[in-house]
Amino acid sequence: ELGDYRHYMLKEIYEQPQAVQKTLEDRLDINSIKQCIMGDNVAEILKQVEEVQIIACGTSYHAGLIARYWMESLTDIPCQVEVASEYRYRRQVPRKNMLFVTISQSGETADTLAALEKAKKDGCLASLSICNVAESSLQRESDFSLMTIAGPEIGVASTKAFTTQLVTLKLLIGLLMQAKGGQSEAVASLVEDLKKLPVLIEQALEHDKAIEVMAEHFIEKHNALFLGRGDQYPVAMEGALKLKEISYIHAEAYPAGELKHGPLALVDSEMPIVAVAPNTSLLEKLKSNLEEVRSRGGFLYLFADKTSGIAPQDNIQVIEMDEVPESIAPIIYTIPLQLLSYHVAVFKGTDVDKPRNLAKSVTVE
Ligand code: M6R
Repeated sequence: ELGDYRHYMLKEIYEQPQAVQKTLEDRLDINSIKQCIMGDNVAEILKQVEEVQIIACGTSYHAGLIARYWMESLTDIPCQVEVASEYRYRRQVPRKNMLFVTISQSGETADTLAALEKAKKDGCLASLSICNVAESSLQRESDFSLMTIAGPEIGVASTKAFTTQLVTLKLLIGLLMQAKGGQSEAVASLVEDLKKLPVLIEQALEHDKAIEVMAEHFIEKHNALFLGRGDQYPVAMEGALKLKEISYIHAEAYPAGELKHGPLALVDSEMPIVAVAPNTSLLEKLKSNLEEVRSRGGFLYLFADKTSGIAPQDNIQVIEMDEVPESIAPIIYTIPLQLLSYHVAVFKGTDVDKPRNLAKSVTVE
């Protein structure tokens, strides 16, 4: 089943163009999203939604965090995101007409299931699961479901499940926009960008060799910082989680604007700093954050848009990424971070597909 790949994780990273393609297949019209993908009469429910609460764990939680940036920039619906293990044990102020969304690759994560039970008891408007396993407990317990069509994910480190979750969350946001009405141009542009994804992911994968060379620099390191801004901050969080999980290097993500409030004290020549820098409205802000790091002797590893004007220097390595639409940049910039942690782990000789102490499906509290 592995074919020419050395590990499932690498195979699954490379399957992402097809996984995304399949997740979009038969779900899009020319300028809109097919309303039926969430079931009949769903528009009536979506029209009533006044709040969205997203619940998930680990990587799936990071997908939820990105979706919040998207949801609140494209709709007027407030969106909250919380990890299931926190949500399930605290009281929530009841909210009116809340759509409760769970995200899970396995659909069997105990904390996520318990959070869903709680939301149902508290009286949410409707529940929706975004999962990768048909007939999973989460799917069965939810009113609606939108599947990610990633295919089986064997590697414990989640890769293609994450990018297809992001695609599916885009579909959900599009459906909400359609149900609320009056945004047909914005929906059309969302659909147009989604269709570009498979090719753009292929292009991102072409940096694999260069990323492998970069990864060698991390072998002896014990810590790493990951930086991003806006919807790239959760991308940085996901990059840090991947590195921790499979290479056992301690990694933390920060929104780049927070550096000066503490973590800058950690920066020296021993601390690699990874940053994702697409050419978005926040690029200039990010650049000044990166300068704060560089001037303190930090070594920067950047994944930056080739038009960003960030040039390699003695202590700055840059992987130049192709230009991508801002709206889908988090999906594309996830790819090089997956490859980075993969290659670091291979260099370190860890068990990439089955990292110590972890299980693929966390069915215990
Ligand atoms: O199956 P789920 O998506 O509910 O799993 C949630 C987390 O356990 C999972 O994403 C975990 O963080 C991954 N191993 C990270 O790569």
